[in-house]
Amino acid sequence: MGKIDVHGEQVSYPIYFRDDFSFLLEALKKAGFSNRKLCIITDANVDYFHGDNLIKLLQKEYTSICKYICTPGEKHKNLETIYDMYTFFLNHHLDRQSLIIALGGGVVGDMAGFAAATYMRGIPFIQIPTTLLSQVDSSVGGKVGVDFLKHKNIIGAFYQPRFVYINTSTLQTLPLRERSAGMAEIIKHGLILDQSYYEYVKTHKQQIMDLHFPTLKQIICRSCELKASIVEQDEKEKGLREILNFGHTFGHAIETLLDFKLLHGECVAIGIVGAAYLSYQLEKISLENVKDIENILLDYHLPIRANDIEQNELYQQLFLDKKVKQDQLHFVLLSKIGDTVCVSNLSESIIHSAIGYICKTVR
Ligand SMILES: NC(=O)c1ccc[n+]([C@@H]2O[C@H](COP(=O)([O-])OP(=O)(O)OC[C@H]3O[C@@H](n4cnc5c(N)ncnc54)[C@H](O)[C@@H]3O)[C@@H](O)[C@H]2O)c1
Ligand SMILES: [Zn+2]
Repeated sequence: MGKIDVHGEQVSYPIYFRDDFSFLLEALKKAGFSNRKLCIITDANVDYFHGDNLIKLLQKEYTSICKYICTPGEKHKNLETIYDMYTFFLNHHLDRQSLIIALGGGVVGDMAGFAAATYMRGIPFIQIPTTLLSQVDSSVGGKVGVDFLKHKNIIGAFYQPRFVYINTSTLQTLPLRERSAGMAEIIKHGLILDQSYYEYVKTHKQQIMDLHFPTLKQIICRSCELKASIVEQDEKEKGLREILNFGHTFGHAIETLLDFKLLHGECVAIGIVGAAYLSYQLEKISLENVKDIENILLDYHLPIRANDIEQNELYQQLFLDKKVKQDQLHFVLLSKIGDTVCVSNLSESIIHSAIGYICKTVR
């Protein structure tokens, strides 16, 4: 369980699974990055807990290391931060031989990857994800980018890291709420691809929430495997890969409308319920299935309804999603637990009743 390889169209890269940083120097050497200028990109929280550790280790082999620390939070995942990063890169004379190290959650990974993809038309980068969400999802697959105006991830690129280094012990410092947010993407993986994995996650709640590392490592590894298998078949999202957006059409709209007061994973959880309810309305899954999904999300302390959202506003916001094709809303739904179906010609009333379902208050 130490490594899986992701085979891309042009490049392949490994994902390493470790419980410390001790293999990192070796991994850098294997990838051909000896003797480079390194630029760590992180945020203030991650830097506080893990920055010094990493720098101390890297200093054993590297003499030129700089560090860009951004303000944590989705609100800062924008072009202003990228502008600031480019300025930092220039001031530190980074060139095409330099290596960017993204140390942090999905926000850091998406931005560092985007800056790496575009600075000098692309310089190499690696991902060291430190949230559960980024370890199971965002660090794999090469989608990088930022939000713009009211649009999530609307500016971006496909740009693969040279490797991903998952050190599960970084999760020890992750707040519980963030751990739960990561569970939303894990539950998504089970729902869309692997029913037995979904059942596993359902029955191992205690171990997962107690940070039982062997169990955690197993699910991180399984989620990466599942995501990699999809990305390998459709790197640039021409078709199949869109199933990974399950729960994200509603999720992204909610995330933006609430002005990022809820975490990405929390919005995805509500979005999953919306998509499950739509699947039920189309008679693909039963109402019991929907309730079962709600229960597992609740078990992991995730929200299943959105408060403070006006239903019509949510409907309008759905059209700002980048998956909208020729003004048609496009949904990834469940054909059963563990499999998906994509639909784009749903009636307005069906969509409105799903919105009504996820916007109402549960008692
Ligand atoms: N590129 C993709 O394919 C993809 C997939 C899913 C999500 N995403 C994106 O990922 C982002 C969400 O990522 P996230 O949930 O990791 O959020 P995040 O990067 O904002 O991290 C969450 C919070 O945890 C803190 N943190 C990170 N690691 C920590 C640690 N080990 N200890 C203590 N604190 C730590 C961060 O400072 C931040 O405050 C969203 O922007 C979403 O759009 C991208
Ligand atoms: Zn997501």
